[in-house]
Amino acid sequence: MIQITVDNGAGENRDLEVPTDVGLNLMEVLKAYEYDIMATCGGMGLCATCHIEVLKGAENLSPCNDNELDTLDTLPDAGAHSRLACQIRPNVNMDGLAIKLKALQEV
Ligand code: FES
Repeated sequence: MIQITVDNGAGENRDLEVPTDVGLNLMEVLKAYEYDIMATCGGMGLCATCHIEVLKGAENLSPCNDNELDTLDTLPDAGAHSRLACQIRPNVNMDGLAIKLKALQEV
């Protein structure tokens, strides 16, 4: 288990206990915690409804793949710390990660 801090974009922070051994990506973890992520592409890195900003721990994430970069490029509000949660697979190195949900602000 690792701990990830999530800002829902409306100023509410929550610390989540996240398993690293069940094969879920971060988008699926957030949905399991009932964050309202549409995930219309089913985690293919195409819909950007799982857009997050990494506030802390970006150095411990695997780099963006080309597909993720292409999708992030289409977002007007993407920044240097933007990622797609579905393209991140939690592992033990990510303990203490802090993220902010971006897409929820737009709905
Ligand atoms: S769920 Fe569609 S881009 Fe992540």
